[in-house]
Amino acid sequence: MTEPVQYRPILIACINPDTFPDVALYVKSGPNFVLYKPAERTITQQDLQRLEQNRADTLYIRSEEMPPVASFLEETIGEIMHNETLQPQVKGQILSQVAMNYVMDLFTTPDRLTDVERCRNLVRQLMQFITQHPTAFDSLHAVVEHDYYTFIHSVQVASLSMLVHAEIYQLPLYELEDVGIGGILHDVGMIFIPTTILEKPEALTNFEYTLIKRHAQRGYECLRDLGGFSEISLAAVRFHHERYNGDGYPFNLKGNEIPRTAQITAICDVYSALTSNRPYRSAISKQDALTLMEREGNSIFNPDLMARFKEIIGTKPSEE
Ligand SMILES: [Fe+2]
Ligand SMILES: [Fe+2]
Repeated sequence: MTEPVQYRPILIACINPDTFPDVALYVKSGPNFVLYKPAERTITQQDLQRLEQNRADTLYIRSEEMPPVASFLEETIGEIMHNETLQPQVKGQILSQVAMNYVMDLFTTPDRLTDVERCRNLVRQLMQFITQHPTAFDSLHAVVEHDYYTFIHSVQVASLSMLVHAEIYQLPLYELEDVGIGGILHDVGMIFIPTTILEKPEALTNFEYTLIKRHAQRGYECLRDLGGFSEISLAAVRFHHERYNGDGYPFNLKGNEIPRTAQITAICDVYSALTSNRPYRSAISKQDALTLMEREGNSIFNPDLMARFKEIIGTKPSEE
């Protein structure tokens, strides 16, 4: 089971001084978290301006204080998305924060997986955002350092996969949401892998790697047993490490034996990993990731889907 992270990042864009719950906020200074404002002092507009001048975009909240904040944001997200005075970029950042809170919540309290509707609501918001503000797509990936990688990675894979499915296929909305649910939960089986292995900065032993590889099937079994998840979502979870040339796991499926959603989830998964900072290597640029995947990946990914992916992602504006 993943250990609870002690501090959770909160994007400053999410903090509206009039409505934000009164909790202590911290800043990160090197490896330490330093109190920025105690719970009893309300954060002001001037604080936010000063933070902006200092180019800070993230504050931190102690994990145990996060639930009221997360619920507050989740309850107000519909309103925020309809607020016409907010820039799409800001909306995207807030939405990515809400989705990330949800994934962190699941990884620390897996019982919450039973609430499939909560997952569907979030995915629906993501999907609406992607269709309404295609040029603000990058703002969904605003959060943060590699410590929170697993959580934001899940949100990235979900949003990329929905975008690609929506552009290539005519799917009913409900199925697109199933694609998103599969994306958000594709690595949920990691909750069964010891944190010491997941966070190990050195190379893994063969045995540790075998354990990690179980996450696809374990995640699938867990969701299947809970019930309420569609075949599309389950396929994304179970088969996202299968490879087009048969070199993947858990079943060495080949070509179109691999369900289409899982083929696309695999491409989004690798792209998200390459373009994120990890403890053992820095992110590479989007363009380099696409070139690398096309060059090296043409046997491991479906070449037609890879070409479409490149077309779709290549046309999205980049903040780099
Ligand atoms: Fe995975
Ligand atoms: Fe992944």
